[in-house]
Amino acid sequence: MNAIRNLIGKKWSSDVRLDGKTAIVTGANTGIGKETARDLAKRGARVILACRDVRKAKEAAREIAEDSGSAGVVPCKLDLADTKSICEFAEHIFNTEKAVHFLINNAGVAICPYSTTADGYETQFGVNHLGHFFLTFLLMDMLKQSAPSRVINLSSFVHSMGRIDFEDLNSERSYHPVKAYVQSKLANVLFTRELARRLEGTGVSVYAVDPGAVHTEMIRHMKSSLQILVNAFSFLIKTPVEGAFTTLYCTLTPDLESGGYYSECAPAKCSRAASDDLAARRLWAVSCHLLGIRWR
Ligand SMILES: NC(=O)c1ccc[n+]([C@@H]2O[C@H](COP(=O)([O-])OP(=O)(O)OC[C@H]3O[C@@H](n4cnc5c(N)ncnc54)[C@H](OP(=O)(O)O)[C@@H]3O)[C@@H](O)[C@H]2O)c1
Repeated sequence: MNAIRNLIGKKWSSDVRLDGKTAIVTGANTGIGKETARDLAKRGARVILACRDVRKAKEAAREIAEDSGSAGVVPCKLDLADTKSICEFAEHIFNTEKAVHFLINNAGVAICPYSTTADGYETQFGVNHLGHFFLTFLLMDMLKQSAPSRVINLSSFVHSMGRIDFEDLNSERSYHPVKAYVQSKLANVLFTRELARRLEGTGVSVYAVDPGAVHTEMIRHMKSSLQILVNAFSFLIKTPVEGAFTTLYCTLTPDLESGGYYSECAPAKCSRAASDDLAARRLWAVSCHLLGIRWR
């Protein structure tokens, strides 16, 4: 059993300190986001836990502060399914923080029944892609002023099963929960690629991360039979601590190539659809149009 665990949860460590740095981690109240935030706090960073449920955010902040001994763990309200909440969060950051060195776009919703965000977008596309796209747009000036800084977008190996359905991005004609999830994870890689291209020379670097298969609350919308199966075989997948390693690798490793896709704490090959620069530009334009923003 130990041999299997050693293979799955490949160890990674770094002694980089982050004293004086500020990180925002979305969806930091549980799973990969919480372990990412805990690690960053232990390294001395000020960490903003950007969560939709303030009660859960406060509980996580209390736990991480106790564990890390840090006084700089800050719970904050951010609902990525609501552009008004995203604006309020950004406003709060402008008013309370001097700098943002790391924006970790981690939050995600997976394989849920059909629903829409407050602004009418299909939830998985709306939260996983559009919400983070808009948040990054609002914080971009601050990230540039804080350079060298990094944006890290949590994608997934399942992006390779996805395709961007430009004719029905919002799944209005038909909805399949898996199709919508893999599309949103492909969108995360395309966004990373195009953002990195646009940010060349600014000191802001961008990375897409595949955390691997990780035992978290991500399975909450799956059928209960599948949840039982995943829980029974959880020893075959990563723990949330192990699931955070590639995010931390992209946050802490010097001189990583911006715009890349990373998996198992190393550069990795993304799918052909995820390397399509034309699709990346088209998705950028459509996202700006949907959000009513000009981002050049
Ligand atoms: N677990 C895996 O095997 C796996 C594999 C590949 C990629 N990923 C990616 O890794 C990231 C983290 O996933 P995880 O496994 O840690 O999942 P998780 O345990 O379900 O955590 C997801 C987090 O996202 C938050 N969230 C959901 N909707 C939100 C919204 N509208 N606004 C703000 N926050 C919201 C959740 O908040 P609540 O607790 O309030 O719902 C939670 O904090 C996701 O982007 C996921 O796609 C995970």
